[in-house]
Formats: sequence, structure tokens, C-alpha cells
Amino acid sequence: MAVLRFPEGFYWGSGTSAHQVEGGNRHNDWWAFEQQGRIRDGEVAGEAADWWHRYAADLTLAAELGQNAHKLSVEWSRIEKEPGVWDEGVIEHYRQMLSVMRNLGIAPFVVLHHFTNPLWLDATGCWENPDTPRRFAAFARLAAERFGDLVEAWITINEPMLLAAFGYVLGYWPPERSSWAAGLRAAANLMRAHRLAYAAIKDVLPAASVGVAVNSTVFELSSRSSFLERLLVAPADWMANQWFLDRIRSQLDFIGLQYYSRTTVRQLFFGDPAGGPLGDDLPVSDLGWAIYPQGLHDVCRRTWHRYRLPMHVTENGIADHADLQRKLFLHDHLRCLHEAIAGGADVRGYFHWSLVDNFEWREGFSPRFGLIEVDYATQARTVRDSARYYATVCRGNAIEVPEPGPPGLP
Ligand code: BGC
Repeated sequence: MAVLRFPEGFYWGSGTSAHQVEGGNRHNDWWAFEQQGRIRDGEVAGEAADWWHRYAADLTLAAELGQNAHKLSVEWSRIEKEPGVWDEGVIEHYRQMLSVMRNLGIAPFVVLHHFTNPLWLDATGCWENPDTPRRFAAFARLAAERFGDLVEAWITINEPMLLAAFGYVLGYWPPERSSWAAGLRAAANLMRAHRLAYAAIKDVLPAASVGVAVNSTVFELSSRSSFLERLLVAPADWMANQWFLDRIRSQLDFIGLQYYSRTTVRQLFFGDPAGGPLGDDLPVSDLGWAIYPQGLHDVCRRTWHRYRLPMHVTENGIADHADLQRKLFLHDHLRCLHEAIAGGADVRGYFHWSLVDNFEWREGFSPRFGLIEVDYATQARTVRDSARYYATVCRGNAIEVPEPGPPGLP
């Protein structure tokens, strides 16, 4: 076996987001959406993985599994239930969560916006309202003031372009707008929100490391691609992967890349957002998403060449209930990540999505992304085998790959 080492001080972790794991989030737009029966099988996030009460045990498991970093989000609607009123009890609870991480040797990467919005903000038009960026920046300032001593790195917004596309163009997520004009307004306000939040955090904490986490994909033309689809590849790539970053590049200390699969133009412009890209000849996840590790190499390399900023892979993972594919998925993606780093890309961390099974938005609880399985009836946790494999990588800061055979032999 050959050993491929990652750079000294590499962050190895996993991720969660507030609404997907905490439980008891009743003050945001997703809660309202769920009550209207919009989730598969009529599910609601409800108590989710009860992380609000069980975070310490889950983080202890993460530390035992060799992880030294964690990406989490703090829930805006929990901290600011009414405009301008900060909930001190909730702030204290998050401080304890962050302190537990620090005591376990886990560096917190804190996301300020992971898809959900306070109900009061929703009532004002949410991301179509030009005042929303200012409101968000006030929340970012508060977070910097109250959590700054515990946070390793800040991510202002998680996958802003996915939010603009699913919530405003495709009407698939709240607030169920279906208009390109609404989508463009939302995208512009999300860009401004990042810039203002970046400035607010830096004002409080000049040395803070502040970035954004963008969904990244590679566009492949499938065997069924039409002439129109071939024409649309370049604009699709620009819109999905570069537009947002181009507009905020001078307000970025690092870029968070989130990579799951390749995409077809058909899916972006005409497709069913629930289905994920078709596999063609590739193996697929439980959600039908093609498993394409080479894409992780390509997005890291391409982003490095365009922006020359430090990067973290802030999400990458697979829905795999039976845990039959996750180990190989991890191995193959990390091998491709290593190749990108060896080629010069400055990637400093990898966060597997996710630490525990969680509420997968409109798809409800059935997709299982966790390194740790959750039995939702009892909230019992079971460490999946793939998590133990990942632990060997985290502890060794390396992956093992077969030695190449002698030339000439298959
Ligand atoms: C999101 C997560 C989600 C994951 C898997 C990412 O787009 O940030 O919230 O669970 O993908 O779909």
C-alpha cells in the first residue's frame, strides 16, 4: 500500500445544520412549510435528531472518531425570535455547544445562514426584500460579538445559489416563488448580505477568517444531450459555480466548496430538482445521485486557479442507508482531493456531510447521510462502519491506496 499524506494541520471533520438536527425549531419558514404538508410523506422536522439536547454526546463520538473540526449552523430564528430582540438563553446554549467542541479539541466552523429564515423575516418578503441584507448583517455582528472567542472560522451563507434557485426560481422550497425575476432579486440580496456580514464580523473581529460555502458541480453532457444543452454548458457552469464568488471575491478569506455529484444541463434548466443528476453509467446513491469522485478534484482545481484563495471542502457525502457505498465513496473522493492538493490547490480541510442522520429538507428523514445512524424512534446512535474507516483517515492524516502495479501488467 502507498500512503498519501495530507498537509500538516489539515481539518478533518463533519457537518450538521441547525434545522436538520436540533429539533424544536418552530420559528422559521421551514417549520411553517412543513405544517402545510410539503415534505415527502407529510413528515415534519419535529425533534429531528434531538441535537439540541444530545450535541455533547454526538460531539464526543466525533472526537473519539478522530475528528478535529465541525461545521455547524446557529439558528437565526432561535436567536432573534422577534426583530431586534436577542434571546440570551439561546445565545448561552450555543456558547456551551461551542465550548464543548473546544474542550474536545474540535474547531467550530460556524455557519450563520443554512437555508432557514425567521418567520418575521419571511413575512417581509424574505430575500426579495432589499432590507434583508442589513438585518442579516446585524445578526452576524451579534454572533461575532457573542461567539467570536470560540469560533475557528465563519461561513456567512450556506449554498446561497441553491437557496435562490430552489426557493425563488423553481418554487420547490419556501417561499415557493417561481420566477426568474424573484430569483435574481434573491441572488443579488444574498450577495449583498454576504458583503455586509463579512464587514460586520471583521469590524468586531479583525483577525477572523470569514468565507462562504457554495454548492459546486461539474457539468457533464449525457448521452441524450441535445444541441441546446451543449450550447448551455458554459452559461450553466458560470451561473452555478462562479457568479456568486465573482461578485464577492474581495470579501472572502476562504472558499467553502460543497460537492456531491456531477450535474447535467437538463437538470439545471429543465429538470426535477428533487431527483438529482442521473447516473447514466455511474453507480448512484440512495437519492439517485451519480457517484463521480473525479468531480471533487475538478472543482478544487478549477476554483483554485480562478480565485487563488484557501479552500475547505465544507460538505461532501452520500445518502446510503445500508452503509454499503460510503467507505468507498470516502476513499475515492479523498484520493481525488489529495490529487488536487498535490497539484497545487490550497485545500485546508474536509468536512464529511454529515455527522449524524438528519432531516433532508423536502425529502424528509429517509435519506441517510450520517456517519452515525440515528434511530428516530429512540434517538439511539450507532456508529456506521464507514465512520470507523474515516476515523483512520482523520487520525493518520492520510489515506492508503494500492501501489501501482509493474508497468505492462493490468
Ligand atoms: C446542504 C445540506 C443537505 C445536503 C444533502 C447540501 O446542499 O447544505 O443541508 O443536507 O446538501 O442534500
